[in-house]
Amino acid sequence: ERPKNCDFVLFGVLGDLSRRKLLPALYQLDKSGLLSSGTRIIGTARNDLTASEALERVEKTLREFVAKGDLDDNLLDRFCKRFHYVPMDFSELSSYASLKETLQAEQTAIFYLATPPSMYATICSGLEQQGLAKQPARVILEKPIGHNLGSSQEINQAVARYFDENQVYRIDHYLGKETVLNLLALRFANALFSSNWDNNAIDHIQITAAEQVGVEGRWGYYDDAGQLRDMVQNHLLQVLSLIAMEPPSRLDAESIREEKLKVLKALRPIDESNCQEVTVRGQYQAGFVADQRVPGYLDEDGARNNSQTETFVGLKVNIDNWRWSGVPFYLRTGKRMPEKRSEVVITFKKQLHNIFNDTTTELPPNKLVIRLQPDEGVEVQILNKIPGLGERMHLKATNLDLSFNETFEKKRIADAYERLLLEAMQGNQYLFVHRDEVEYAWRWIDSIVAAWDNNEQPPKAYQAGTWGPVGSVSLLAQDGRQWDE
Ligand code: BG6
Repeated sequence: ERPKNCDFVLFGVLGDLSRRKLLPALYQLDKSGLLSSGTRIIGTARNDLTASEALERVEKTLREFVAKGDLDDNLLDRFCKRFHYVPMDFSELSSYASLKETLQAEQTAIFYLATPPSMYATICSGLEQQGLAKQPARVILEKPIGHNLGSSQEINQAVARYFDENQVYRIDHYLGKETVLNLLALRFANALFSSNWDNNAIDHIQITAAEQVGVEGRWGYYDDAGQLRDMVQNHLLQVLSLIAMEPPSRLDAESIREEKLKVLKALRPIDESNCQEVTVRGQYQAGFVADQRVPGYLDEDGARNNSQTETFVGLKVNIDNWRWSGVPFYLRTGKRMPEKRSEVVITFKKQLHNIFNDTTTELPPNKLVIRLQPDEGVEVQILNKIPGLGERMHLKATNLDLSFNETFEKKRIADAYERLLLEAMQGNQYLFVHRDEVEYAWRWIDSIVAAWDNNEQPPKAYQAGTWGPVGSVSLLAQDGRQWDE
């Protein structure tokens, strides 16, 4: 459904996120006919470019970052006509006055803050002073929302001074991924799964988000954050919440966010008492990724060579509630892994009684594998009889494999930001993160950070191009399990 006309204001339009993700996403929405004819894109940045220089940059960006097959001169032209540029000094009130002059009072303004979070309060206050923060205006915030509970509360509080929670859209781009959304479809549209989604049927769950890239030239930011804050606090906990939440009564923001929040509240704390058994921290050393030699973390450009920041995290997470008691969730995420792969593996309990005992000592469990990226798809591992006339039953673990690319051949898989921008334009918050979720997630993460700080152990080394330190294997091995490879 096409959203109504709006003025989409991009703060930080010349920045990296806008260039790589946001402008291309807006272009794709336009291409798909999802931007109404009167929708305008207003870019602002602290830069005295003229309108035509700014437009030139936008066009260049699109030519660089939109897939070649999707570029079309007519479409580019149409897109550029929607674009307006307002140079701003974000801390100058007069800047917001010129922004206001550019906006059309009769259409909803959506402000996307693709700026460092330290600017959020200033920008929101500037908008409010010009009367631009009133309903139905919306504000979209990028991560990181804080560095810990305290700083995230400060940011949320500052924004809340000017915008109500129902106007605030906090992005977690994992919630815009096709396959992450498909988790909802799998769980709640299929009785096969919905009736087997608890500790009666499931043995354990694994969530992996592995990347081949290293710190990609942003050592300073990354070193301050580390993999726990950069990936677990947001993306992995969001995926975990969607898998673990109780069925929401409706597919709306309030119902879903309430259920996710209950999961975050039920996470068993990790602190000094259990941190050694349930967490693994790693840092990559030089090695080979995709046959290329890559430097170690401490030899990346801009690195301080005594940093103890982790680039790999493995966690065993327990959710203390009725549904998940006794079902561990194992999480791992790291940079410089052998491949880019994000997936969820749900391992069901083994059959208790084995009538095939004469041929098979132990029946392997069923697994449901949800491939989030790349090669999006869903796989169910089941046991089958190997066809043949022999008297004995020979069994084999086989895959029912549904690849999105093959099954939905003609459908292009949209980038997460396209979906999220569209939802924000439609005024639908169900794929955005509520303030309470952000803060509960930080509360839980802070306790892990404190435990790590306290025990003062450096992260364990792992070679780039491997699946992390050996401790990651032991994390599961101590429970008689292993990572799904
Ligand atoms: C970002 C992190 O939020 O997510 C990056 O800051 C990370 O460090 C990225 O590379 C991963 O996103 P995706 O969609 O490629 O899995």
